[in-house]
Amino acid sequence: MQIQVFDTEQQIASAVSAILLKQIREKPQSVLGFATGSSPVATYQKLIEAHENDGADFSKVTTFNLDEYCDLAQSDPHSYYSFMREQLFEKAGFDYSRVHFLTADTADHESVCRAYRAEIERCGGIDIQLLGIGRNGHIGFNEPSDRFSDGPFMVELAPSTLEANARFFETGKPPRYALTMGIGDIMAAKKILLIATGESKANAIRAMVKGDVTPQCPASVLQTHPDVTVFLDRASARLL
Ligand code: F6R
Repeated sequence: MQIQVFDTEQQIASAVSAILLKQIREKPQSVLGFATGSSPVATYQKLIEAHENDGADFSKVTTFNLDEYCDLAQSDPHSYYSFMREQLFEKAGFDYSRVHFLTADTADHESVCRAYRAEIERCGGIDIQLLGIGRNGHIGFNEPSDRFSDGPFMVELAPSTLEANARFFETGKPPRYALTMGIGDIMAAKKILLIATGESKANAIRAMVKGDVTPQCPASVLQTHPDVTVFLDRASARLL
């Protein structure tokens, strides 16, 4: 696991977007795994700028998002699909026929999860997976538990996750359930980039980097992946 510490969020965004842009220059048909939440937003903005100002072409890129809330239509402004449309896809020229989401607004979650994994495999696997990390060490929505998950599955979100994500909902109440890619799916990515900023992530970062590899801190599994780079600001790196 390689750790890089930066002074500002903008510097993190420049470093991460440079890796993603190099990837799509070298392989225009790359498969990218994306995350939502606050951590990747500045990076997405850099990708939009590269598209608008330097002609970066995302039209052949295939994408898989990590997770989606249950019981929200894709068109709901709170869905992660809407988030990605707004924060990246619409402004950077992605081709929606290559955009994949765990469509969580269906009753048949199991077949959605099975089909998602099959589709990732059919596309040749994920070249670069972008991750954030929860305050409790979750990646995707793999919450602390007794075992590492494998493929996509439906999860009940931990109270700390509901609390952290309440800020995105006027009601202050995110849906309790979500579909998420499993730890096995994330670990199968060829390269992983994880972004964390702020004091609230410091404990999770310490557990991920220095703690035991345990499903009680799902991100700790990344210690066993051959190609992970972690991008931190000084506050999130404080306990290393
Ligand atoms: C979101 C996701 C989550 C977030 C994590 C951090 O798709 O997979 O694991 O990355 O909850 O969220 P932020 O970046 O909002 O602190």
